Amino acid sequence: MATLADPALHPAAPMPTHWKDGNPTPADLAHIPGDGGFPIIGNTFRMLADPHAFTKAMVERYGPVYKNRAFGGWVVALVGADANELVLFDRDKNFSSEQGWGPILDQLFPRGLMLMDFDHHRADRKALSIAFKPGPMRHYSGSLNRGIAQAVKGWADHPMQFYPAIKQLTLDLAADSFIGIPWGPEADRINEAFVYMVQAAVAPIRHPLPFTLMRKGVKGREFLVDYFTKETHRRRAEGGGQDMFSQFATATREDGSLLPVDEVVDHMNFLMMAAHDTITSSATSLVWLLAKNPEWQDRLRDEIISITGGSGDLQYDELGRLELVEMAFKEALRLVPPVPSTPRRALREFEFGGYRIPAGTPVGINTQYVHHMEEYWPDPEKFDPMRFTPDLVKARHKYAWVPFGGGAHMCLGLHFAYMQVKILMAQLLTRYSIEVEEGYDPDWQAWPIPKPKDGLKVTFRSW
Ligand code: HEM
Repeated sequence: MATLADPALHPAAPMPTHWKDGNPTPADLAHIPGDGGFPIIGNTFRMLADPHAFTKAMVERYGPVYKNRAFGGWVVALVGADANELVLFDRDKNFSSEQGWGPILDQLFPRGLMLMDFDHHRADRKALSIAFKPGPMRHYSGSLNRGIAQAVKGWADHPMQFYPAIKQLTLDLAADSFIGIPWGPEADRINEAFVYMVQAAVAPIRHPLPFTLMRKGVKGREFLVDYFTKETHRRRAEGGGQDMFSQFATATREDGSLLPVDEVVDHMNFLMMAAHDTITSSATSLVWLLAKNPEWQDRLRDEIISITGGSGDLQYDELGRLELVEMAFKEALRLVPPVPSTPRRALREFEFGGYRIPAGTPVGINTQYVHHMEEYWPDPEKFDPMRFTPDLVKARHKYAWVPFGGGAHMCLGLHFAYMQVKILMAQLLTRYSIEVEEGYDPDWQAWPIPKPKDGLKVTFRSW
């Protein structure tokens, strides 16, 4: 069985500490305002305790371009919609996504699309896009409707924690749509290995010592690499199904060649990771915001019933007609973006906001903060899906709302995410109203992906 340490698995992937080589020294960044916080730990704990309050304090003190020391190194934060555009659109190819995400993801999810840059990235992204064309998407919509309907029937009329329930359901749905296997023991084993990998990706101990999360993550990766490698060969030989993995296994580059097997495996692992917690987090924030704003439940339900006739089953061709549901989801993604900030590393010197930022600098944009800036979003804490009418969208800075990123690395699965959440809403709201106890206001963990600390206590009341 291949192991994480096996260089053949990811020959181009250095270990995280390598990324620090060549970073600018404090002297190189001396002209940029900001502070390094406490000795050794820098601002890490201050940031983690309340990322939004931390950014607000830094922006008020230093302005929208500031340096900060956290997680063992200096980062230059670039805050605002113009900064989002500069970094995400990246007209001059100044920024490496591979070297931005590498320190966080390279050990367990090497060579995913976000860990590639420029020509290689473009070629693989094009090959993988086949899995998101209308044919396969229509197929996934069928399995999402079936799976979601089956699960939500069991949620009726009892207090429950929504977050763990949607997390499990999203894993089960992925077994079907992503891998093409039924719910059951094989899917459970894959899900378990995958969950360990995701937990390990953000674990504080970065070496696979016995009993650590990293050890479980490395074992999980070994299991999945072995499983997906065998399955890629089998699906190529026997012909695969319509699931996402089978599409990847048989995807070709522009010259007609199949993707190398180990690349298919890494793309698949990465894709599952990119899809899982993001959908789980955003479906949870939408359910919470609807629970707090019952008048919006009624508006969405009326729209869904007018389109589906009340059955709750949403056909693929009907997805585009759920305009209010889509606006409500966009507003949930604004208020609680699942990917709160995005890292890159400058490949060459660039200028922004009057500062010259040297080559090699790790930089970060802050989606969560920009999504709450009053200059783009009047009354920013208010849940108001009408912010996303076509006229208001047109009048706003294009990069003020970037939950799915933008430019070459813009989320490849965003239409899948819209589809799953719309089907979830159709199946839920045609059966239930979403209720929470009077005055309930759960605490949210902000990082690495937002989630309610108590799992979100709700009741789905039949009506
Ligand atoms: C609400 C749900 C989701 C959110 C908020 C989200 C957010 C993002 C963001 C912000 C990026 C870009 C990161 C960067 O530029 O560094 C991204 C990339 C990506 N996402 Fe998503 N995502 C979601 C769901 C999904 C799903 C369902 C899939 C797959 C089915 C997926 C697959 C990917 C992939 C493959 C990339 C890398 C694209 C590239 O680098 O070219 N995501 N996502």
